[in-house]
Amino acid sequence: MNSKPERVTVPSFRAMKGQGRKIAVLTAYDYPTARLLDESGVDVILVGDSLSMVVQGRETTLPVTLDEMIYHAEIVGRAVERALVVVDLPFPTASTGVHKAVEAAARILKQSRCQAVKLEGGAEQTEVIAALVSAGIPVMGHVGLRPQSVHQMGGYKVQRDEQRLMQDAQAAERAGAFGLVLECVPASLAAEITQTLSIPTIGIGAGAACDGQVLVIHDLLGITPGPLPRFVKQYADLHETISLAVRQYCEEVRNGVFPSSEQAFK
Ligand code: KIV
Repeated sequence: MNSKPERVTVPSFRAMKGQGRKIAVLTAYDYPTARLLDESGVDVILVGDSLSMVVQGRETTLPVTLDEMIYHAEIVGRAVERALVVVDLPFPTASTGVHKAVEAAARILKQSRCQAVKLEGGAEQTEVIAALVSAGIPVMGHVGLRPQSVHQMGGYKVQRDEQRLMQDAQAAERAGAFGLVLECVPASLAAEITQTLSIPTIGIGAGAACDGQVLVIHDLLGITPGPLPRFVKQYADLHETISLAVRQYCEEVRNGVFPSSEQAFK
């Protein structure tokens, strides 16, 4: 008999730091992918607002709506049995006032089987993080490059303001965040932040010293049309695999090879 795998929870995620166990995080936006990632042992699945770019083909993460995030969160939540599932609060939810942010995050948790939210920002978001936590909603912070602020930051660039980044990280932890994404931060600074905080840091373009790593699944699988950011490692070339399979299918339909008698009913 197959027993259910032990669920990764917010406390067990936090404990991984003390255990020195590196944390593997990936994004997912649909049922089959989320199931595959879960069965393959990923610790955390992030329903990232990157879906705006990766799934919806938009230029930035700004256009995706709360309803669209909930739609995908519900689908992913249904697929996952083991991993902790975290959902991004879309732009500009975390900046529309504490009450609205709590309402939005509560909708995500009520309408999906997901367990936590992630929001971008450090020191300026401490009130929102604290309010969410006191409402019983676990929060993952996100500092460094914050894609929702791409226009303010002048592009997708490595963030180098050491003092500000350390302050943001510490402020997020003090406000009650259970984990922190560090995006596009020099590796030495990410290492220092990781040592200073008691909550796990999850790096993306932040070097190997972080407590865990996150990548966008379409980048890892080689589906995203290039060029990819320097921090991505492509583990497969599904673009080529899918394109080959589809070209072969088209050819076989056109020259009558598919379907053969094997795929037909008597
Ligand atoms: O939206 C997202 O996918 C993210 C990760 C890349 C950290 O925020």
